[in-house]
Amino acid sequence: MAYTLKSKIKDVWKNPVGHDVLAKILLQLNLPSILITNPLVSFLSLGQVKALSRGRLSEGFFESLIGLLSSVESPSTKQTEQKPNETWWKEAVFYQIYPRSFMDANGDGIGDLKGIIMKLDYLKTLGIDAIWLSPIYDSPNDDNGYDIRDYDKILEDFGTMEDFAALLEGVHRRGMKLIMDLVVNHTSDEHAWFQKALNDPSSPYRDYYFLQPAAGNTPPNNWTSFFSGSAWNLYEKQKLWGLHLFSKKQMDLNWENPDLREDVYAMIRRWLDRGVDGFRLDVINYISKQPGLPPGDETVGTMMGYCGIEHYFYGPKLHQYLREIREKAFAPYNAFSVGETPGIGMEMSKQLTGANRGELDMVFSFDHLETPGHTRFDDYVYDLNYLKHYLMNWTKNYGNDCWQTLFYENHDNPRMVSKIDPSGRFRVQVAKLLAMLQLTLRGTPFIFQGQELGAVNKSFKDIHQIQDVESIGLYHELLDGGMDEKSAFSKILAGTRDHARTVMQWNNTENSGFSSNTPWIIGDGDEAYCNAAEQMENPASVLKFYQNLIALRKGHKALIYGDVCFIKPKRKNYFAYTRELNKDKYAVECNLSANPLKRSMKWDHLVLSNYEGNDEILQAYEARIYRL
Ligand code: NOJ
Ligand code: CA
Repeated sequence: MAYTLKSKIKDVWKNPVGHDVLAKILLQLNLPSILITNPLVSFLSLGQVKALSRGRLSEGFFESLIGLLSSVESPSTKQTEQKPNETWWKEAVFYQIYPRSFMDANGDGIGDLKGIIMKLDYLKTLGIDAIWLSPIYDSPNDDNGYDIRDYDKILEDFGTMEDFAALLEGVHRRGMKLIMDLVVNHTSDEHAWFQKALNDPSSPYRDYYFLQPAAGNTPPNNWTSFFSGSAWNLYEKQKLWGLHLFSKKQMDLNWENPDLREDVYAMIRRWLDRGVDGFRLDVINYISKQPGLPPGDETVGTMMGYCGIEHYFYGPKLHQYLREIREKAFAPYNAFSVGETPGIGMEMSKQLTGANRGELDMVFSFDHLETPGHTRFDDYVYDLNYLKHYLMNWTKNYGNDCWQTLFYENHDNPRMVSKIDPSGRFRVQVAKLLAMLQLTLRGTPFIFQGQELGAVNKSFKDIHQIQDVESIGLYHELLDGGMDEKSAFSKILAGTRDHARTVMQWNNTENSGFSSNTPWIIGDGDEAYCNAAEQMENPASVLKFYQNLIALRKGHKALIYGDVCFIKPKRKNYFAYTRELNKDKYAVECNLSANPLKRSMKWDHLVLSNYEGNDEILQAYEARIYRL
């Protein structure tokens, strides 16, 4: 189908990309989908919407929308598979390690590879099958390793290549797998490629980045960075502008350049030769930028918080590049891939992960981490009913061709328990409820370090305790915009990534057993209440709940591949479903609120619950699993 300004909204909604773009707009504005699906609007043409917007949506917006719609190769999302193909990564429970904060072996206050080795038995005992390691490469650490200086060297703070080999051997010996973080949307400005590109006009590396001649003080376009301000940095000496979607030290790579791509694939193959099992691909949906880097639409920019995003979040050659990575690097090694794809909705996710499309195995989409109309820096209480509907929608629509990731936390987000129950009154119950959903729904669970202990947000006192480049940038942007320090800091406190980056609480000794020295980031003394050593001994702990659920999941393929049937899906605060495979059947029943709730079902063979007893009333955030 050809898309033009004459295309009707109803046809845009039917297009996978069109669907997700419109759904995203509704989500941002906290509006119901009926606003688009009602006959009055659905028969409007794009041209009519343009006229109605009275210039608020620019010509460029419609051009890029039409471009996006036309980029869909197979608009049909028809399922081809009758049953999901069985494979290790669908059965695995993943665990994300943020190396800086996991375990410090040499007492310098910074986590390291030898520290991770010390804790492999802990992970094995928990039931973990695969580890995702956040970046451990050489880096000036502007963004804690997401700014890579040398892809083939280990950051000195973390250890050496020998330590890495020992870690990988230890992981494999225990029957686990290891995936690395692959950061190839950008490199550090200290990477040799960038240094050559910047300083030598005749270098072939100049075209590896987006470097443009600077005539004056106006950047080449109006794109903004995710870490505040313009996405362009001026190199005065060289009279060049350089594009950075993230910090000024994270320079975007130009994937249009075939030599760059070959260099990236060769680098990936070197890591696969070292024996790693796959990759988590950092902001991988941003790698293809609209040629010419056209200006971003201001209305979209304001709505999404970032100007220019429509020109790269689902770029014109994304599918081509993903297939190329797979063909030239992943496939020969049978390597696993999960893409981090911020901004991508359900239909686009299917396009990226469909069983026969040859792109990615799975993606992390983020639309469930905040409720509609909210962003990470809003101080609000998360309503679990939204999560329920999100999970039902994805589970029902994903079918057997695609496979979901199930996660709530990572190193970029505050703790989920705190979003749901900021008071902390139901901390343990909420943590266990989340575990129940994550380990019994259909999809691959990714647990972020500390989540298995029921970790909560930290009470940072002021901006000087904050380390994160994103939070610091935003804080200054807010001050520049006229906000007072107190209000700016409370905004930071709501959303800072540092909540997830404080150190693991291994025991109740000084520095929580993480290090013999003061950790690189401040904690808040929560370890007396929440630490792994105590929880391992306590049968009622969050950790034991995770361990028991993981064991249950592993013992019963019904909890992995089984059909999902949602029960009384419309009942507010109530979430129940069954999982069934070859007559092995389980049922989950949960109360999503702090108020008691009457049960709807009569199941009675209780296997596990976050409360004692099996009465007719579900207590606050009660979560039960029954065997039928
Ligand atoms: C996503 C990573 O998870 C985040 O930590 C990082 O800042 C950006 N990508 C840029 O690499
Ligand atoms: Ca260390």
